[in-house]
Amino acid sequence: MKRTIDHALLDNAKINKKDEFYTILSDIENEIVHYTHLFHGKIVYCNCDNPQYSNFWKYFYDHFVDLELKGLIATYYDSESICWKYDGKEITKNKLQGNGDFRSEECKKILQLSDIVVTNPPFSLFREYIRQLTDFEKEFLIISNINAITYKEVFALIQKNKIWLGINFGRGISGFIVPQDYELYGLETEIRETGERIISPNNCMWLTNLDNEKRHEPIELVKNYEGNEKEYPFYDNYQGINVNKTKDIPADFTGVMGVPITFLNKFNPDQFEIIKFRKGDDDRDLRINGKSTYFRILIKNKRIQHPAVEIPVMQPSLF
Ligand SMILES: C[S@@+](CC[C@H](N)C(=O)[O-])C[C@H]1O[C@@H](n2cnc3c(N)ncnc32)[C@H](O)[C@@H]1O
Repeated sequence: MKRTIDHALLDNAKINKKDEFYTILSDIENEIVHYTHLFHGKIVYCNCDNPQYSNFWKYFYDHFVDLELKGLIATYYDSESICWKYDGKEITKNKLQGNGDFRSEECKKILQLSDIVVTNPPFSLFREYIRQLTDFEKEFLIISNINAITYKEVFALIQKNKIWLGINFGRGISGFIVPQDYELYGLETEIRETGERIISPNNCMWLTNLDNEKRHEPIELVKNYEGNEKEYPFYDNYQGINVNKTKDIPADFTGVMGVPITFLNKFNPDQFEIIKFRKGDDDRDLRINGKSTYFRILIKNKRIQHPAVEIPVMQPSLF
């Protein structure tokens, strides 16, 4: 299919301006390559994607045969929204009654009939977006801001192993195409020869419930708690130690450890269990010597059978 990018269209997509970040084709390719075997016989739905400029539509259209897809559907948010369908032979287009809001009844009906949702949804509606996907029990592979991990409802799903991070994370997603008049001030940016304006934030990730190889690889633990106790202070308000970097998780510690959010990028649920996040026993932020730490996820190593180290009894907090 010959496909021209209509920049006027891109610029006019201003229904919710801060959501207009378009995904770069190579970023889509670099992620989906890890799941290709999971698409056979499936109907893919891109429900925030105008096929005239969505690289998600382009990717699935171009790879329809090699992914052995059954169908491809796209709808998008616009007063004149159209539903595009492709069955491997022809594209059919039908005008939607409403504006293509992913929450509308007609889009929910399409969702019901689809198998896997793949897109970059509006971040401003992310909570609603993921709730709908999980309510409909759909498979999905979507782009999100890393900050979404800190949303209670998203974290609860990660903790229960219902959803997890995809392969590419942070700088692993190269950037997004933004409308021509988008303010680039203060952002890492590039204007390509094609005129495309790209911003490169390092705060995005893929979120999915499709299995991938990364979540089965154990984190290599090279440090020990014993002999390095000073590096791993106990929290004032939780019986557990603070670990500043995922690579420093001690191999011999049987108790609970607080690790940074980026741990989830390496999380293997057979190796670690997620206990809770952010708060201590007093339901306030985790603290060390009275000072709140950065957002921490409390985890436990599942593979240490016998206490290798005696866990010291925590002193009552003065704070
Ligand atoms: C981050 S952009 C990504 C666009 C496209 N999925 C891509 O990756 O190139 C999110 C898109 O969702 C659209 N959008 C905003 N609210 C929406 C809604 N309620 N339903 C469907 N799409 C919406 C925005 O207009 C925007 O085009």
